[in-house]
Amino acid sequence: MHKRRSCRASITEMNMNPNGLEGVVVAETQLSDVDGERGRLIVRGHDIEALALARGVDFESVLALLWRGELPTRQAHATLRAELGNARLAAHALLPGLGNALQTDDAMDALRAALAHLQATGPDTALRLVAATAVFAAAWARQRAGLAPLAPDPTLGHAADYLRLANPATGSHGDARAAALDAYLVTAADHGMNASTFTARVVASTLSDEVSAVVAAIGALKGPLHGGAPGPVLVMLDAIGEPDNAAAWIAAELAAGRRIMGMGHRIYRVRDPRAAVLERAVERLQAAGCTSNRLALARAVERVAQSTLNERRPERRMAANVEFYTAVVLDAVGLPQNLFSATFAVARVAGWLAHVAEQRAGNRLIRPASRYVGPMPLEPLAA
Ligand code: COA
Repeated sequence: MHKRRSCRASITEMNMNPNGLEGVVVAETQLSDVDGERGRLIVRGHDIEALALARGVDFESVLALLWRGELPTRQAHATLRAELGNARLAAHALLPGLGNALQTDDAMDALRAALAHLQATGPDTALRLVAATAVFAAAWARQRAGLAPLAPDPTLGHAADYLRLANPATGSHGDARAAALDAYLVTAADHGMNASTFTARVVASTLSDEVSAVVAAIGALKGPLHGGAPGPVLVMLDAIGEPDNAAAWIAAELAAGRRIMGMGHRIYRVRDPRAAVLERAVERLQAAGCTSNRLALARAVERVAQSTLNERRPERRMAANVEFYTAVVLDAVGLPQNLFSATFAVARVAGWLAHVAEQRAGNRLIRPASRYVGPMPLEPLAA
């Protein structure tokens, strides 16, 4: 139980870190653990490599793991897959009622506006949110390409259907591409107290609804320091073009005061373990005959970026984060660059909603304090 003290005493005695809350523990969770020194991510007792690269573990599996605490039985998996498929169909039926929500240049703006249309009540709200995130993101991509949205196929897995809805022209090796996307969705589903998850938990702690929590989390994910990085990673790889250009390009970026996207992390001081998982997913895709023309370049750029950044700041080790190889894997499965951040949301919505449920189960309003450093009134307070 919390020991409650008077507000004034707790503010002055409290551990204070106004510098981005680095190192501050704000919740206990059973969902995932990020070990930044060893480069380890555990999701409900499973190492991320073992989970995401296991044959037969897909997005529905991690949804069950996060929401119910264990990987599903065959039967439970089939039921969840069918329920999610039907929820995609129901989300598709909502498209005509979304007004101008999808008529925007930015997929995350579209998602934020479109998801806000969902009914916020009912026991199936979480599943409806997961389905709608994929269906609305894919519909936005089709509409940007001047095409009408496709109807979901509830018999497919979530990853395969999302791929089909977003880009039906991805062509051959459909199963291998869907497996690579599943590996991505599993890898990105949850990651400790990242900024968007914290946002979702803060909203949930006010006893607000799940739709509000997810819409707020989308807003946090959108920023380039969080989920907005993979698109710029692809832009960087294209601008570099050849491995030999990497050193000069990176030096020029840093000299101009810009950050190297896909590099560095608040928690990891070593390579983000998710980068290795996604790199492996692209290798598998290549082995299945679906060549990524960006993998070799990405590896070369990563090497140069890491050594350049660490020479500049040896005291703050930086390495590739998840976004670096997110760009490579999402490009390799055939998704357009302008859909990368929204695809991150398609995965992370599972984690957000697991955290919302966990927050609700042991809720206390999340309401930190601030230390006032502004001017004081000239007149003393009357006694
Ligand atoms: N490229 C260049 N410099 C970087 C950098 C990067 N990718 N990441 C951090 N730095 C530098 C900062 O400029 C800062 O330098 P300064 O002290 O001279 O100003 C220092 O490292 C610390 O940066 P800070 O923003 O306090 O670190 P953080 O712990 O908040 O960083 C990120 C975490 C992810 C925000 C940061 O590494 C970043 O901006 N990376 C690029 C964006 C990205 O890939 N985001 C996806 C994250 S999964």
